[in-house]
Amino acid sequence: MSEETGHVDTGTPSDAFVFFGATGDLAFKEIFPALYHLTRDGFDMPIIGVARSGNLDTLRERAKLSVDALGSSDPETVHRLVSRLRYVKGEIADADTYRRLRQVLDGSDHPLHYLAVPPSLFSDVVRHLGRSGCAQGARVIVEKPFGRDLASARLLNATLREVFPESAVFRIDHYLGKEPVRNLVYFRFANSFLEPIWNASHVASFEITMAEAFGVEERGAFYDEVGAIRDVIQNHLLQVATLIAMEPPSGRSPEALRNAKFKVLDSIRPVDPREVIRGQYRGYRDVTGVEAGSNVETFAALRLFIDTWRWDGVPFYIRTGKCLPLTMTEVIANLRRPPQGVFNEPTARANYLRFRLGPDIAIGLGTRVKRAGEPMRGKEAELTLADPKGTELPPYQRLIGDAAIGDQELFTRQDAVEAAWRVVDPILGGATPIYDYEPGTWGPDRASRLVLNRARWRVPHPKPGQRFANPTKPTKPTKPTKPTKAD
Ligand code: BG6
Repeated sequence: MSEETGHVDTGTPSDAFVFFGATGDLAFKEIFPALYHLTRDGFDMPIIGVARSGNLDTLRERAKLSVDALGSSDPETVHRLVSRLRYVKGEIADADTYRRLRQVLDGSDHPLHYLAVPPSLFSDVVRHLGRSGCAQGARVIVEKPFGRDLASARLLNATLREVFPESAVFRIDHYLGKEPVRNLVYFRFANSFLEPIWNASHVASFEITMAEAFGVEERGAFYDEVGAIRDVIQNHLLQVATLIAMEPPSGRSPEALRNAKFKVLDSIRPVDPREVIRGQYRGYRDVTGVEAGSNVETFAALRLFIDTWRWDGVPFYIRTGKCLPLTMTEVIANLRRPPQGVFNEPTARANYLRFRLGPDIAIGLGTRVKRAGEPMRGKEAELTLADPKGTELPPYQRLIGDAAIGDQELFTRQDAVEAAWRVVDPILGGATPIYDYEPGTWGPDRASRLVLNRARWRVPHPKPGQRFANPTKPTKPTKPTKPTKAD
C-alpha cells in the first residue's frame, strides 16, 4: 500500500526544518551558515538536528563554531538561530528515533526534512519518515549523489515516491543555486549576439574544468564511496554542460526550464570507456576512511558528445580533480578558426569564450590582436568582464529558502537524474584503469593526450591575485581531523 502523504501546496511555507546528519561535515560547512543567513532574513521556525551522537548543547556549540567560521556574524542572529535548535539523538535505522522526532515536531504541519547523510542511508530515512507520520504534509531535500548508478537511482526514487509526492521532493545540486551558474543561462538567452555562433558550425569544442587545490581531507570515508565521477561529474558538471547546450526554454515556468534541460541531457551519449582517464593523487590512500588499496578516482577527464542538431560532432571535454594546481571552475567554448590563414600563423589558437564559475564570476572573450611592429603578427588577448566582489547569495541559502516555499526550479527532476546516470553508467567503478598523479599537477599526463586527441587544455585564468600551486612543492593533502560527512 502506498504510504504517500498529503500534499503541501507550492507557496505554502514549511514550518519546521529537520536535518539528518546534524553533526556531519556538510551541516557544519554549508547548512549552519545557510540557516544563519536565512534566520537573519526572517526564516522563523524550529530547527531540529538529528544525529547519533552528542546532545543539544554540543549541537548549539557546533552551530556557533560553524557561523564563527564565516568571519563576521551578528550576535543577535546567532542567538536566535541557536535558541531555535532542537535535538533528536538516535540511530538512522531505529524506528524510535522517528517516534521522538514526531513528538518534537508537534505543532508542525509542513516540516522540511534535509537528508545530509551518505547516500546509502537515504532509503532508510525516507521509509521511517513515512511510517512514523513525520512525512505527513512534509517536503524532503535529498543530497547528491542521488543513487550510485542508474538502477539504484530508480530504486531510491521508487522509495521516495512511496512516501512523498514529486512536488515535495527536492533533489539538491548546489551548483544550480550558484550565481555564476544561473548567469550562464541568463547570458545565453539575454544576449542576441551569441545565438548565431552557438552551434556546431562555429564552436569547435567545449572544455569544462572544475579544479580543486585541496584533497579529500576529512571526508575520506564519504569520498571513497563515491569518487570524482559520482561526486561532481554526474551532477554538477553535467548540469553545467546542460545549461551550455540546451535550447531556449519555452517560457519562464520552472517546468519549462526543467523540460529544456531534460531534453538535452537525454541527448548526451553514454560515455565510451575509452574516452575517460581516471586518476588518483599520491597520498589519497593514506587519508583516514579511505581503503588501503582504493581504486577510487580523485581525478577524471572525459569526452562527451551530444546528439542534437545544434551540437552534432562537437566534443565536450570535462575534467575535474582534487589536489590540482588551483581551485577554479570554468567553461571554455573554443570557436572555430577563420576559414583561411590570411596571416600564416599556423600555431595561433582560435578565439574562445570563457565563463569562470568560481571562485569569482568572470566572462572573457579570447581574441587575436596585432603585435606592434611591421610584421602582421598577432598575440592572444582576452577581453574580460569580472565581478571580483563575489556578492552572491550562498547557494545553500538560496536552495533551502526555495525548498521551504516549494519552488522546484533549481532542483533536479527525476528524469534528469536518470538521464545523467545513463551518461556515466559505463564508466563507474573500476570500469577503466586508474593512474597516479602528483598533488599540485593537472592530473595524469594522459588526460590531455587521450582525451583531447593530443591537443592542449587551455590554461585556466585564475581570479586576480589567485596563485597556482607549485607542482615542485606539492600541496600535501591535509590529514583528517574531523569526522566524515555525516553522523
Ligand atoms: C560538492 C562535492 O558537491 O561540491 C565536493 O561533494 C566539492 O567534493 C564541492 O568540493 C565543490 O563545491 P563548491 O561550491 O565549493 O565549488
